[in-house]
Amino acid sequence: MSQYAQELRATAQAMVAKGKGILAMDESNGTCNRRFQKLGIPATQEYRQAYRELILTTPGLSDYISGPILYDETIRQTTREGVPFLRVIADAGMIPGIKVDTGAQDLAGHPHEKVTEGLDGLRDRLAEYYQMGARFAKWRAVITINTDIPSQACIEANAHGLARYAALCQEGGLVPIVEPEVLIDGDHSLAQCWHVTDATLHEVFHQLHMQNVALDQMILKPSMVIPGLGCNQPASIEAVAEATISCLLKNVPASVAGVAFLSGGQSTSQAAEHLNAMNLIFGEQCPWPVTFSYARAIQQPALDHWGGEPSRVEAAQQRLRQRAQCNSAASRGEYSSEMEKTLAIA
Ligand code: G3H
Repeated sequence: MSQYAQELRATAQAMVAKGKGILAMDESNGTCNRRFQKLGIPATQEYRQAYRELILTTPGLSDYISGPILYDETIRQTTREGVPFLRVIADAGMIPGIKVDTGAQDLAGHPHEKVTEGLDGLRDRLAEYYQMGARFAKWRAVITINTDIPSQACIEANAHGLARYAALCQEGGLVPIVEPEVLIDGDHSLAQCWHVTDATLHEVFHQLHMQNVALDQMILKPSMVIPGLGCNQPASIEAVAEATISCLLKNVPASVAGVAFLSGGQSTSQAAEHLNAMNLIFGEQCPWPVTFSYARAIQQPALDHWGGEPSRVEAAQQRLRQRAQCNSAASRGEYSSEMEKTLAIA
């Protein structure tokens, strides 16, 4: 048992406290730059700092967000006035987290499949992040659906990496967010996504067990069970919610501290509607809190509006807060499209 067990349990519970979710803002410089370039925002360290400052200084963010997930560059940054971002987060009563994987690389021997790397030197990196004040971490594995893939080899390699990472996190005092993402890209059906998610979660929990990971001291960050973006058979909100919860109930032990979904390329309203339906219709059947750990579904309207323009910071922050508020309501099963109108921003 980790010497940090009690602290880890308390942190994990706080991360998924009622009405709270996690804000993923841990895009690598490459991903952040690509999103900036699409909007004509200069892809520089200065603009990345300004954008992350905009997010973290949003008034009232902590009413809905338990903690942000940062990237290595961001955790070391300060506001323009020189206040460390970690101080801004602590002063707002939020818990800082950090992405620690080093990205998905081609899986040798398995064309079109990826394996997430980052275990080398991880113990030391985690010790530094803990020392700095981070209290949880994130590692994302990606599983692609296509003809004949995913292979069992890909699922096992990624699940093994997630479990080794999670064990190291708990040893070092950080709550692991375990993120196996079944990608939404492709033309697969809802049923195909269900089967791949089932196989993936089954293997992830097998590997977590093998590595002695304490489930009450971790958060699962899964993708929803949803048809691929190119699928010509759309699924209703209720069908996605039902498929997702049935797959989780089959595979996720009751002792897991919480489930916090990624948005994975869904629209902002879809991400809120699906989360809401899961809590409204199936909430009482779920042994774990079910909430969000979104990046795009919270950030996108704010990023689009800001566009790198200092005069638009406040209006962009309103948009960010609005998405956080809507998803907070969805985590309680209290979201409605009416809410979007009430909170609409001029
Ligand atoms: O690793 C992915 C992020 O943490 C979640 O991002 O909500 O845009 O899918 P997303």
